[in-house]
Parts: sequence; structure tokens; C-alpha cells
Amino acid sequence: MPAAVSEHDLARLVDAARAARQHAHAPYSRFKVGAALLDEHGRVHAGCNVENAALPQGLCAEAVALGQLVAAGGTEVCAVVVVGDSSQAVTPCGGCRQKLREFAGDDTPVWSADMQGWSARHTLGELLPASFGPGHWRR
Ligand code: THU
Repeated sequence: MPAAVSEHDLARLVDAARAARQHAHAPYSRFKVGAALLDEHGRVHAGCNVENAALPQGLCAEAVALGQLVAAGGTEVCAVVVVGDSSQAVTPCGGCRQKLREFAGDDTPVWSADMQGWSARHTLGELLPASFGPGHWRR
């Protein structure tokens, strides 16, 4: 069971996700997303979506943030915040749920926020039930 995420860390995460979102490269969808991840050292890693004229080559904000975490030496995702401007809570896409699963567990909280404030809280297990993960490779 991961430690509860403090209000202070949640505030750091949402600030970082909002700041990253400002830099989103989303000229095609015009849907800017920011994401921030808390690692096992209490560090925050942020990313934004990076679209591409060759549309399938675009990157989601969560994937960019995950790359930042790994490149900085992080090995665990302890909390996730996603920020997007939508009337529905913006949660990670299916592919990003699986990417996050590599470094997070079923209990890892995934918070969604819009321009006004928090819009949802899920666990990764709720978003990706009965998932395939690193443990499956261990016999
Ligand atoms: N997108 C993200 O970056 N993260 C999400 O959680 C949902 C969708 C991006 C992908 C694409 O650049 C744009 O939002 C529209 O789908």
C-alpha cells in the first residue's frame, strides 16, 4: 500500500502539470494536456502532449512525464496528476495506463483536474483492471 499523497505534494503536482500544459504542442487537436508524476524520492516530473504532423507519432503528456521520471533515475510512480480543459475528467488514455503500470501499482492514485480544480480521483487499478505488468515476467 503506497503512502497517502500529501496535500502539499498534490499542490506541487497540479502546479507542475498546469505549467507543462502551457507548453503543449497541440496544433492539430488543440487539446492541451499537462501531466505530473511523483517519484519515490518525492520529486515531481512533468510533461505535456507533443503532437506531430504525422498524427500517430504524437506523444501524450503522461508518456512525456514518464520519460522525464525515468531519465532522472526514478523507478516508481507514486501519484499521477493530469490536467486538461474538458467538461469530462481527463484520464490517461489506454496506452498511457499501461505505460504507467510499468512503474505503478493498482493503488496508485490518478488525479484529474480541469481549469477550475479537481475533477476526479481514480486508482490505476480502477482505470486498468486485471492488468498485465512486470510481475507476469517473474515465474
Ligand atoms: N492526450 C494526452 O496527452 N493525455 C491524455 O490523458 C488524453 C489525451 C492528448 C493526446 C492528443 O495530443 C490530444 O490529447 C487529443 O487527444
